[in-house]
Amino acid sequence: MKRTQFNISVSEDTFRIDTKNTSYMLGVRDGLFLGHFYYGPRIIEDDITYRSAFAPEGRISRTDREMVIFMDGFRFEYPGWGAGDSREGALKVQYEDGTTRVCPLFRGYEISSSKAPVPGLPSTYAAEGDVGTLRIDLADPDTDVEVSLFYSAFYEEDVIARRVEVRNGGDGKMVLQRVLSAAMDMPGRDMQGRPFELLTFHGTWAREFTRQIDPIPFGRIGVSSICGKTGNRAQSFLGIVSPGITQEEGEVYGLQFLYSGNFSSMVEKCPNEDIRVSVGIHPEEFSWVLMPGETFYAPEVVMTYSDHGLGRMSRSFHDLYRRHLIRGKYKEQKRPILINNWEATYFDFNTEKLLRIARQAKDCGIEMLVVDDGWFGKRNDDNTSLGDWTVNEEKLPGGLSVLSSKLKEIGLKLGVWFEPEMVSPDSDLYRAHPDWAIMIPGIEPSRSRNQLVLDVSREDVRDYLFSAVSDIIREADVAYVKWDMNRQLSDLYSAALPAERQGELLHRFVLGVYDLQERLLTAFPDLLLENCSSGGARFDPGMLYYSPQIWTSDDTDAYERIRIQEGAATLYPLSSLGAHVSICPNHVTGRNVPFMTRGHVALAGTFGYELDITKLSEEDLTEIKRQTVLFHRYNDLIRNGDYYRIASVRDNGAYDCYGVVSKDKSEMLLTFIHVINRPCTPNRFIHLKGLDGEKRYRVTWAEDPEEQPEVVAEAYGSTLMNAGLTIPCMNGDFRSVLYYIEEI
Ligand code: GLA
Repeated sequence: MKRTQFNISVSEDTFRIDTKNTSYMLGVRDGLFLGHFYYGPRIIEDDITYRSAFAPEGRISRTDREMVIFMDGFRFEYPGWGAGDSREGALKVQYEDGTTRVCPLFRGYEISSSKAPVPGLPSTYAAEGDVGTLRIDLADPDTDVEVSLFYSAFYEEDVIARRVEVRNGGDGKMVLQRVLSAAMDMPGRDMQGRPFELLTFHGTWAREFTRQIDPIPFGRIGVSSICGKTGNRAQSFLGIVSPGITQEEGEVYGLQFLYSGNFSSMVEKCPNEDIRVSVGIHPEEFSWVLMPGETFYAPEVVMTYSDHGLGRMSRSFHDLYRRHLIRGKYKEQKRPILINNWEATYFDFNTEKLLRIARQAKDCGIEMLVVDDGWFGKRNDDNTSLGDWTVNEEKLPGGLSVLSSKLKEIGLKLGVWFEPEMVSPDSDLYRAHPDWAIMIPGIEPSRSRNQLVLDVSREDVRDYLFSAVSDIIREADVAYVKWDMNRQLSDLYSAALPAERQGELLHRFVLGVYDLQERLLTAFPDLLLENCSSGGARFDPGMLYYSPQIWTSDDTDAYERIRIQEGAATLYPLSSLGAHVSICPNHVTGRNVPFMTRGHVALAGTFGYELDITKLSEEDLTEIKRQTVLFHRYNDLIRNGDYYRIASVRDNGAYDCYGVVSKDKSEMLLTFIHVINRPCTPNRFIHLKGLDGEKRYRVTWAEDPEEQPEVVAEAYGSTLMNAGLTIPCMNGDFRSVLYYIEEI
């Protein structure tokens, strides 16, 4: 008997979840064990239970003579702990007698036409009827641990969202010691028989999103964070890719974790060449007491598969995030062009200085002034006052509301920087509530930037922060908040948790951050939130649920940004990448890049400025006026279009090229950057991507006034994609050009 609903089919003991181009199959072996059968290109139907095994043939019972061999080789969908499977477990529970075995067995399933939000956590969403959800229930009959696995199919985007709930169905206390959100046992070779490789992104401050592809060795390999936030050392993303993966060719399984705290994204290659992929909250520094009847909700993982290279994976994630994760007023709106005073003034500013910047900015087409760090308490350097969210009237007489109304007269909105999760030991807040900081009583805590972390797992701390931040937003009519977070967590202890629950602190901290941001967005639905963490140290899909944009890196050097933004755009839509034009020599690298190129690179992001505009030459001011016009002309396309990576300076060492094509393939914006000049450099032939081969297009310089654009070429899409477009050689380093390609 076969039953199909909402792209989910059930036949015998097999479940199939279809998206436009992929199928995902799981099933039950001998009525007990939930196995992973298949994930790959769309298939119709057929019994493929044979794919579940590197395991003994024949019927398996729990008292089988060789049960351990079965447990150790079966392709599990959600492996437990301690029953003979020696690979990475997904679930480990400690009971009152100290034992930890858990073996979840199949119990039942349900299909629904909707996707419920996950309590307290970010998650993908869809309207009722737009997404099918398969729920599979498992239970360990010996211990009363109950597990529900949820799979929601985003058909158009080729994405499956997975998550897990664990319930204490018994009458004793349980302690969850690990609850990963997804696991998958799969063949270790691609369809051409080549061993899969691992794609990850590593980094550090000012060097986020560095791509790395390595062979997968036998044993365990992966990326993780145990610093209390996602961190810049690695994205939680895992890509299982064919060797030599390109933008168009090769297979890729991409998994992303919708979570902003500790993670573990691991791949384990087994002796039989199978690989087990597992993603979830890092089991280190995690435990959770589950009382009878209580449920634990693990964060969501989104997965996609592409047999058309990395490009399709990126576009699937971009569409998913733009349509089904990012929320609020700015989900579909152009964001105001901002100017941020950080690199312009650092801590040294006052109302007059800001207004001078604002007047000049307005004249150039900029729409919002963001007052960064230093407007509150006694904050003249980074040693003091975090937590004291009251205006420093020496710098800003009359407060931010006076600045705000003066900005309004000029015609600019006001944005404000906060770092709500932090407290300076030198602050009134700390002096009043030392127990609000995360630190172990009697031990001097490790400081970072001379600051400590507030225990936002506590409701009283969140209430204080909510009222402090919202008072400022209300009083000064703040249109935008930059929510920063500039250190990792250490010295873990919460004065509000009993000893047996201290292991819950890091997850409760993340839930607290989510709760605070949700409360703010509910109170101020028009607020534009930009998350930030020393640059991109908390750039993760969990944060995108609250803020449609995230500051990508403190490195604003356009050359570095080409690489950072290429890495970021592999996973995230351009509409979410915080990108600004800053001054040269660049404050981080000391490099000089032409003003025009800086603008072109920042246009492939949210776009804004971070410099003292009152000190620029007339020539640069004229360039800003041109850039702000370009932003308005092309931002709809950049925000909503399909992203195509055409050439990477990472590969060729000389030039970089990418484009954005509208969904109806009627227009494209192409960015070409001539990175390093060499003598006798030839003209480049760039093979465009994503156009309609049958359509005829006109290519113009994107910067020409719309009325009389100079025509560079007129050709069919097939010509531009196959024969290519000639980009004339440019003289000098870091030169760039934008082309606009429009259907005629
Ligand atoms: C972090 C941010 C910067 C800036 C400073 C202010 O480093 O990433 O953009 O806001 O803090 O202290």
